[in-house]
Amino acid sequence: MNLIFLGAPGAGKGTQAEIVCDKLNIPTISTGNIIREALKNGTELGLKAKSFIESGKLVPDEVVIDIIKERLAQDDCKEGFILDGFPRTVVQAEALDRMGINIDKVIDIEVSDADIEKRLTGRRVCSVCGSSYHLEYKKPAVDGICNKCGGALVQRKDDAPETVRERLAIYHEQTEPLKAYYEEKGKLFIVEGQEEVADTTALTFKALEA
Ligand code: AP5
Repeated sequence: MNLIFLGAPGAGKGTQAEIVCDKLNIPTISTGNIIREALKNGTELGLKAKSFIESGKLVPDEVVIDIIKERLAQDDCKEGFILDGFPRTVVQAEALDRMGINIDKVIDIEVSDADIEKRLTGRRVCSVCGSSYHLEYKKPAVDGICNKCGGALVQRKDDAPETVRERLAIYHEQTEPLKAYYEEKGKLFIVEGQEEVADTTALTFKALEA
C-alpha cells in the first residue's frame, strides 16, 4: 500500500507513520528526518537546507522532490511505503503524480493549533535514530534515553515556540490546500487526532481499512 500521512507540524503523523510501518512492514520516508540527518552529517543537502529548517520554513520544492525521486526508486519501496511530510505543497504533489506513482490513501491527521503548540514544546527526539517521544504523552522507559537505540533525547531547534507558530502559518498557507487536492481524487481520509496516541492509532487503522 502506498500512503501519504498529511497534517500540521506536530499533528502526530510521524508517530502514526512509525506504528503503521511496523505493522504493514513497509518503510516510512520522512523528508524531515532525511534533511535533519543530512544537516547532522554536514552534507551538501544539509548545508542547502540548514537556514530553512531551523527557521521553520519549507525547503525549496526542487530539493525535496529530488530526495523523494531517489528514495522511491530504492528496492524496499516496491511493496509499498508511507510518505511522512511529503508532499507539502501542490507543486510537490504534482511532481509525485508526474513520477507515475499511484497513491492509495492520504491519511490527514487533524489537531487544533492550540494543542499542537502544547505538544511540540514537550517533544523530545533521539539524537541518534530520530525516534520521537513526549515528556507527558509518550515517555521513554528511562528519562532522556531512547527506548530503541539508547541514544540521548534532545529538543529540536524548530520546536521553539516562535518557530512553531511560523511552521503553523506556513502549513495553513501552503500545505492545507493539499486536502482539497486529494479529496478531489477521492483519496483523502480524515483522522481526528486524539489525546492518547493509541486512540489516534485505532482511528488511523480504521481509515486504512475503510
Ligand atoms: P518534519 O520533520 O516533517 O516536521 P513537521 O511536519 O513540522 O512535523 P513534525 O515532525 O513536527 O510533526 P509530526 O506530525 O510528525 O508529529 P509527531 O508525531 O512527531 O519537517 C521539518 C522541516 O523539514 C520542515 O519545517 C521543513 O523545513 C523541512 N521539510 C520536511 N519535509 C519537507 C517538504 N516536503 N518540503 C519542504 N520542506 C520540508 O508528534 C509531535 C509530538 O506530539 C511528539 O512529541 C509526539 O509524541 C506527540 N504526540 C503525537 N501523537 C500524540 C497524541 N495522539 N496525543 C498526544 N501527544 C501526541
